[in-house]
Amino acid sequence: MRKTCAVLCSCLLLGLAAPLAAADAVKLPAPRKSGGPDVLAAIETRASGSSFSGAVSDEELATVLWAATGRNRDGGGWTIPMAMGKPPYCDIYVAGKNSAHLYDRENHALIPAASGDLRSKIAKQDIAKNAYYSLVVVMDGAAAKAIRKDTWEQIAGFAVGAATQNIYLACEALGLKTRFIISVNPDVARKELALHDGDVVACIMALGK
Ligand SMILES: Cc1cc2nc3c(=O)[nH]c(=O)nc-3n(C[C@H](O)[C@H](O)[C@H](O)COP(=O)(O)O)c2cc1C
Repeated sequence: MRKTCAVLCSCLLLGLAAPLAAADAVKLPAPRKSGGPDVLAAIETRASGSSFSGAVSDEELATVLWAATGRNRDGGGWTIPMAMGKPPYCDIYVAGKNSAHLYDRENHALIPAASGDLRSKIAKQDIAKNAYYSLVVVMDGAAAKAIRKDTWEQIAGFAVGAATQNIYLACEALGLKTRFIISVNPDVARKELALHDGDVVACIMALGK
């Protein structure tokens, strides 16, 4: 069973065609929680990548996603602060060569979301189209409104800011490159990823080497 899961996992993450069913969710490798420069050194060197080439390993992807919105403190907390300790009201979709998946932050797994290469459809700039992954960051309207109906966009925006900065810092630790990109085709992302009413596409984080 474990071997089957591992095979499925590497096939899906490396961009082979994936069937679209929640039952096909695949567990990610454990994230790295040590190594690389210390946090202050990573803050000192943080920068946006200006060109991308090279593959991102499954462990590297797992670490970046965990840093963005994963569980910490032995499952008792989240890697980013949230009002009232709620789950992060920001969803992250991983668009790769042949498929896209939703990061299931509670189970540290990937849920198939769409087939095909969405990177070139969602991004407007070539720089993002060439990155190994596009992480599509989506403000979860329903979750944020449950906290504050009147200022939910602000609340969700805080989540996006915290998650994307953690992505930058995780990339510094792993020797990866990333870039915050707001220039996207939100309607394409909404349709292809079958987002819920009220969800807002905030940005993509191009991810690569
Ligand atoms: C809100 C926001 C939107 C951005 N949108 C884009 C974008 O659409 N395209 C792009 O190439 N870079 C984008 N960037 C990246 C900035 O251009 C980059 O952070 C800036 O040039 C400073 O470089 P640095 O991150 O290396 O310090 C964006 C950054 C932020 C914070």
